[in-house]
Amino acid sequence: MTHRLKLGIAGLGTVGVGVWKLLNENRERIFANAGCELEITAVCARNADIDRGIDLKGVRWVDNAVELASSDDIDIFVELIGGEEGIAREAVETALAHGKHVVTANKALLAHHGNELAAIAEKHNVALNYEAAVAGAIPIVKSLREGLAGNNVSSVVGILNGTCNYILTKMASEGREFADVLSDAQKMGYAEADPTFDIGGHDTAHKLAILTCLAFGSRIDFNSIYLEGIEAITQADLKAVHELGYCIKLLGVAIRTDSGIEQRVHPSLVPLTSPLAAIDGAFNAVAVEGNYSGKIILQGAGAGQKPTASAVIADIIDIARVNALYPLGREVAKLAPYQRARMRAHEGGYYVGLAVHDRPGAVAAIAKRFGEQEISLESIIQRGTDTQSGEDAEGGGQQSVVLIIHETAEAALREALASIEADGHIADRPRMIRIEKTI
Ligand code: HSE
Repeated sequence: MTHRLKLGIAGLGTVGVGVWKLLNENRERIFANAGCELEITAVCARNADIDRGIDLKGVRWVDNAVELASSDDIDIFVELIGGEEGIAREAVETALAHGKHVVTANKALLAHHGNELAAIAEKHNVALNYEAAVAGAIPIVKSLREGLAGNNVSSVVGILNGTCNYILTKMASEGREFADVLSDAQKMGYAEADPTFDIGGHDTAHKLAILTCLAFGSRIDFNSIYLEGIEAITQADLKAVHELGYCIKLLGVAIRTDSGIEQRVHPSLVPLTSPLAAIDGAFNAVAVEGNYSGKIILQGAGAGQKPTASAVIADIIDIARVNALYPLGREVAKLAPYQRARMRAHEGGYYVGLAVHDRPGAVAAIAKRFGEQEISLESIIQRGTDTQSGEDAEGGGQQSVVLIIHETAEAALREALASIEADGHIADRPRMIRIEKTI
């Protein structure tokens, strides 16, 4: 072991402290695998005075992450600040431009600026590694960039947000309300600083944008992702779908279609028999289908201090092994332009929930609208609502009607639902959740 690599860590929050602890705890093994010694020479964080439970003696404290990024006493800049703009972006750009390798857990930064950052890394012949940005401890970046590099990938489907999976699991298994379960996830340190990034699906979309690039060799295109969060999912939905043999998961889906690549994030009905249905709590899973590999499913801890630190250290070890690959799997110049598939061209099965005015002919009129669009129904459940007063504004009752719809074009379903709304037989906007059978 002849050389020593010097690390500068920017950000000493949950993950930064985890990296510090792992490096100390598994020191011998990490050095052996890296083929050299690794030393944290400098750190930077917002507040120098708080007790983080780690001994920073002998380590240079730097107040500014950009200054740290260009310091002579570091070889690898480890960015654990977060955020797509501001200091994180400036510091990573600075580090790369100064010939420092970068390891980051920042999915928002990669999703929005990954193409440009990878080009800077290529220009300066340094690594930009980001395993911790997607699915915590699961080595999905490495799997796509290396293990599956010879395959034509047809789909990537993942449960990529621990907070949402935790919320949906607990709501379904314990009958608890959304807000109550969200505050648990926050206390456990899974949720983003602003949890609307989790529940609105943005965090999943950030991760999906990165995976799509690696899977299909196209430029990262976050803005092309169709996005829906889990805010509207109710106890009634969860109970109804369970009776029908499904659970609800927030999925990130990227599929190669004839018209381009479909990228979407939305709550999906997943058959209870699917391996993804068994992914509970804050766990993540990613299923990839390659033309020679077949389907591969990776699952594990997707958030939290230890799993994320595990991925950061793996990236550092890769650099130490002089294993700097193209950050996006191929030269940025050779990335194809992202070709977006139209969401309305999406075809699949659907769950539709309707609050129907309880009057003669209402359900028949609704069925007629589906028929007009040649949409065929797999099953239908009708019952008086138990979540609402059962009285509508017109003084009549309401029926909850839940339908499972066979494979159909999304455009046709949207037409049918628009007609049903216009007919005035329903009390609320229709609820529509796509059934995911890719997995
Ligand atoms: N807020 C994220 C999650 C953290 O809940 O999965 C890991 O990226």
